[in-house]
Amino acid sequence: MRPPRHPPTHFSIDLGASAPLCRRLLPSLTLQPIGYLRTRQRVKFQAGHQPVAASAAENILELLPGCGYEQALQDLAGMDRIWLLWWFHRNTGWRPLVLPPRGPARRRGVFATRSPHRPNPLGLTAVPLLGVAGRELLLGPCDLVDGTPVLDIKPYLAAHDAFPDARAPWIDALDDAAGAAPRHTVEFADEAVAQLAWLREHHAVDFRDRLVELLARDPTPHRTRRIKRRSSDSASIGCGAWRAEFSVDGEIVRVRAIEAAYPRSFLERPDYRDVPDRAAQLAFLARWPDRTPADATGAESAPPPPPPEAKPSSA
Ligand SMILES: C[S@@+](CC[C@H](N)C(=O)[O-])C[C@H]1O[C@@H](n2cnc3c(N)ncnc32)[C@H](O)[C@@H]1O
Repeated sequence: MRPPRHPPTHFSIDLGASAPLCRRLLPSLTLQPIGYLRTRQRVKFQAGHQPVAASAAENILELLPGCGYEQALQDLAGMDRIWLLWWFHRNTGWRPLVLPPRGPARRRGVFATRSPHRPNPLGLTAVPLLGVAGRELLLGPCDLVDGTPVLDIKPYLAAHDAFPDARAPWIDALDDAAGAAPRHTVEFADEAVAQLAWLREHHAVDFRDRLVELLARDPTPHRTRRIKRRSSDSASIGCGAWRAEFSVDGEIVRVRAIEAAYPRSFLERPDYRDVPDRAAQLAFLARWPDRTPADATGAESAPPPPPPEAKPSSA
């Protein structure tokens, strides 16, 4: 598998003059990744908000050579699940209040959420362990994007780690509402069907299932879900390096067309070489020249961050 484009090697907290006083007074901790996750999920849009059973089990955690990790993995094989502690390395900064992707647009305290925008950007995921071979761990569904630095592994112990009756009031309320609400049915216009088939066939780009999952759940405008109203009868949703234009009629969501999220003028710039699906977007725009973003604000991207005029989404 290919190496991450910009492998981050250190995770440390800025305790310099710009850090708030409360942090400058405390000791700091520097962590180094023990390895990197390899997965088909290249952009955040493709990774579930938590791992879901339906996502592809093609995730490999490759530990670094020369550190004795083969020995450290001893006795792990055979465990059903492991905890991964990892670094939200695609994020910069944090916010005390965040807008969770599910439910009505209401901000919550970051410590009451699983948001990536945390003061210490640490992710925690229990993943199925499918096998161990040398320094590689084959994992089931997980919510990390490709190249994510992993900081630690621990066994998941059902007797200590599972509390199925524990309450989480605002999240339980969302789950109850989602269970009771009718799901939308997602349909595709001919143009969208042709575009998605072309992307899959020619560029191995396929985000249809995730698009259906998100629109079926809730197609209303929402910043974190990257859904924007365009006119009285149309809206768009950001899908990584792509966008889908859709309309809603009662319980039917109709995806009208797919668009490249970056305009050609950005994609051709040398500082945009790292944009996900760049070649696919250029080829797509050659074939569907009108399907360029109406507002030209760009898309979710991988580091290094794109120039300011194409700010990535914070979702
Ligand atoms: C809601 S967070 C939950 C993560 C973890 N299960 C937790 O509770 O700490 C999952 C989201 O993080 C985002 N994500 C995945 N890998 C990331 C990375 N390396 N840097 C920043 N965001 C990432 C994806 O958008 C994914 O949907």
